[in-house]
Amino acid sequence: MIIDNKRLTWGEKELSAKGVPNPLMESLWLLRAFGDETGKFEAAVKERGGGKPLAYILGTQEFEGHVFKVNESVLIPRQETMVLVQESLQLLRKMPRPLRVLDLGTGSGSVAVCLASEDPTAQVYASDLSETALSLARENASLNGVGGRITFFKSDLLDSAPVKFDMIVSNPPYIKTDDIPRLQKELRHEPFMALDGGTDGMLLITKLARTALTILNPRGFLVMEVGYNMSPAVSALLTELGYAGVRSSKDDAGMGRVVIGQVT
Ligand SMILES: C[S@@+](CC[C@H](N)C(=O)[O-])C[C@H]1O[C@@H](n2cnc3c(N)ncnc32)[C@H](O)[C@@H]1O
Repeated sequence: MIIDNKRLTWGEKELSAKGVPNPLMESLWLLRAFGDETGKFEAAVKERGGGKPLAYILGTQEFEGHVFKVNESVLIPRQETMVLVQESLQLLRKMPRPLRVLDLGTGSGSVAVCLASEDPTAQVYASDLSETALSLARENASLNGVGGRITFFKSDLLDSAPVKFDMIVSNPPYIKTDDIPRLQKELRHEPFMALDGGTDGMLLITKLARTALTILNPRGFLVMEVGYNMSPAVSALLTELGYAGVRSSKDDAGMGRVVIGQVT
């Protein structure tokens, strides 16, 4: 596609005026995606300027070398979730087969797809309470060539788990309810259900940590992503509940973002 510099500059100015970071690059991506259809690029720039995340406008997000379809029924996969994926894979590689691993709260399916792609002998399961998220996750698994490798099921946390697992991996909702209206406007487009962790952010983490004790096989692992300042509280919770070897793993910014515990 030949880039129309006049439209590109118009888009850059519009986005810059609305405080969008990287206005030139975003204008370019939108022009490449929508420039061929009359009025679509201009409409997309207006949407972006109004605070809609770029990924929802483009309909895709790249994560760990895979491309995922996204829409407003799922959280946009975040780079920080790489720590969750990498820690889980490192543990999985040392574990005897056969083994079952569950991505609980799969959303777009990003974590489950990465696990299934990188560990071809693990039996991967993925669950969510949202039907619309599950349907998109199924689609993303097929698009990334692992549709036949992942068993999807709808469940409120572990209530409908069909089997026991050797590892539960989860990026659960962990934002305090009262903080959600104060978040940057992009985040307000994401599903409330994917963000809301109750009054103290710990509601789902606590329920999951308790119920996982009965659904994990002996020596099974619980691996959870948590908020940037939550790892001390979550580590203390897992220790109190009787998990062994509780530790946290840091992100690039040096914050403990993943907490791991093992059932004895
Ligand atoms: C923070 S998002 C994580 C999405 C995806 N795993 C990722 O890392 O990008 C949390 C997910 O948990 C799901 N969820 C919320 N409450 C749940 C519940 N009670 N049981 C199961 N899943 C739930 C949401 O629908 C959402 O997809």
